[in-house]
Amino acid sequence: MNLDLAPDPLLAVPGPSQIPPRVMRAMMRVVDHRSPHFHRLYRDVVEGLQYVFRTSGDVYPITASGTGAVEAMVLNFVKPGDVVLVPVFGSFSRRLVNHLRRVGAEVVEVDYGWSSAPTYEDLKARVESMGLKRIDVFATVYNETNPGLTFRDLPKVARWIKSYGALVLVDNVSALGGDYFEVDSWGIDVAVSSSQKCLAAPPVMSFIAVATKEAYRKAESVNHPSIYFDIRLMRRFAERFETPFTPAVNYLFAIREALGIIREVGLENWIRWHIERGRAIVNALVKAGLEPFVSNDYHRSNTVLSFKYPTAVNPEEFRKTMYRLGVSISDAMDDIKGKAFRIGNMGYLTRRDVLTLVAAIVTVAAMANRVDEVGIGIFEEVLRYWEPPQFSVDEG
Ligand SMILES: Cc1ncc(COP(=O)(O)O)c(C=O)c1O
Repeated sequence: MNLDLAPDPLLAVPGPSQIPPRVMRAMMRVVDHRSPHFHRLYRDVVEGLQYVFRTSGDVYPITASGTGAVEAMVLNFVKPGDVVLVPVFGSFSRRLVNHLRRVGAEVVEVDYGWSSAPTYEDLKARVESMGLKRIDVFATVYNETNPGLTFRDLPKVARWIKSYGALVLVDNVSALGGDYFEVDSWGIDVAVSSSQKCLAAPPVMSFIAVATKEAYRKAESVNHPSIYFDIRLMRRFAERFETPFTPAVNYLFAIREALGIIREVGLENWIRWHIERGRAIVNALVKAGLEPFVSNDYHRSNTVLSFKYPTAVNPEEFRKTMYRLGVSISDAMDDIKGKAFRIGNMGYLTRRDVLTLVAAIVTVAAMANRVDEVGIGIFEEVLRYWEPPQFSVDEG
């Protein structure tokens, strides 16, 4: 019987991420969602979200995981028959294409495979060679969580694509707060994100930022069948600092606290912490002989660090042994499943966490390769000793 007496395994997956104790404590509260207490909470959350999205436009919290916000973005801002340009460079851009096709968009994909993100020059050249007469919407993922690529040229592309009069829709679920991202100054019309990644809040809330008049004008002209995700309803209720339907009130308290921490630290510093920590993890693992899955530094994500599995390890066994050492990491997905593992460098990971993460990876890789019999023997002792089930993650 597992009595859950021990701390849970370290979350080094690409979401959910570790949550600061202050944020956990803030969640133990619920108020009437049509009351002045809630109005105050709503205003604070929206202000905090405007700060992290870098927008003076509107931001709406949605009680749903990131997929809900992506769906809301597609439903409200894309019409059947719209020509939608999408760079495809991993699993979540493929999902975005699926969402778009389901609403009847005419999707034009520009494929970048699994190991590089689009660049401005290449995308522009490829689109111009297609001779497209019309692009109604440009929809993209900013940080591709599988395999771990960032679309660094997005600001330049957004500026150029406006010459087609296209709306710019961005999924930034996995890098908001963990890397530079600016809705207003980059010319983004609509962007979405969610709570459980770089903002270090619990999972289940997502956010949609609607920054421009053009976006609202488009939403007025789109008919879709969803009531829950209707942005026009959200907008109407936001005028009185409410959501149309019962939100996860306790999670909003947690999100207010998480956003408050980012404000106290300063967004610039919060992002810098992610960047420097990501660099440290990559440098440490490269020094230990591991190879990043994404070889190009410019494209490599800083919030999702993917590495080829060390030689001689069985991917399943590798992650299982990591878990036994108390660290959760992820396999890659889809076409690259079993070829790379992914580390979430998101939110609240301390130096102690990073040390644990790096030491565990290097240890397990060394054990598989028998590179240092003495060192390996020491770590094998750690894995071999008996732990009472109440404290052990072996049985899950
Ligand atoms: C880029 C991106 N978009 C969308 C999602 C979907 O988010 P969720 O799993 O919270 O529904 C994820 C989740 O990892 C993601 O990384």
